[in-house]
Amino acid sequence: MQSDQPKPEHRRAPEMQDRILELHAAAMREMSDPRDGMRPTPVAFLICCLLFTMWGGYYIGANAGDWTGDGLAEQANRAPAGPAAPQNPMVLGAEVYNACTQCHQADGKGLAGQFPPLAGSEFVTGDERRLAAILLNGINGDFHVNGQIYNSQMPAWKDVYNDEEIAAVATYIRASFGNKAGPVAKTIVEAVRKQVGAAGAWSEAGLAEFAAGK
Ligand code: HEC
Repeated sequence: MQSDQPKPEHRRAPEMQDRILELHAAAMREMSDPRDGMRPTPVAFLICCLLFTMWGGYYIGANAGDWTGDGLAEQANRAPAGPAAPQNPMVLGAEVYNACTQCHQADGKGLAGQFPPLAGSEFVTGDERRLAAILLNGINGDFHVNGQIYNSQMPAWKDVYNDEEIAAVATYIRASFGNKAGPVAKTIVEAVRKQVGAAGAWSEAGLAEFAAGK
């Protein structure tokens, strides 16, 4: 019969509903409320982050080398162990030749009427001692090169460059601009400097005498 069926909830007796509310209230009390908003970051996680950051800093410091500008320049300039290797005279000579281009020009052809050519000049490709003497002491006054007369001044380089540098630029101009003469040894410059280094600029005649008197 109908009275055997359990009644649907909304039709239960009011005492029964009170009982249900009571039971639920107890259950709600026992369970922790869900929290709203941020939870504090766990301390263990913070310690892990700190340790990783420190390790990263250490790793970069230990493996990066020297990243300062000075440090890089120092590394680039660090000479190989042992006695300094002699520089390639053609490389050094090309460097020194920068001091000559304003007059003799980059192509060694000089400037008509003002600066004599080094290309095809007997003074460049001929006697090595004479060439060393020109470079050390310079030239003053009338000077003939390839039938042309020049009357200007060739500066002295003895106080600017050492024997190795003068030998290098001599070697360079003898093998550039179409010239094909052999290198000039540093010992030749050294000997000429000892002999005439104290003298002033050459005259054309004085240079010819020096060259003849060897
Ligand atoms: C300020 C200009 C000037 C500079 C810089 C100069 N020279 Fe000269 N050089 C002359 C002049 C000018 C003569 C010709 C001498 C004269 O007129 O009295 C000459 C003559 C010469 C000669 C002999 C003549 C010839 O043409 O062969 C040589 C070699 C020479 N110079 C090499 C050099 C070299 C190498 C350098 C660089 C280290 C150099 N000169 C830098 C002006 C210069």
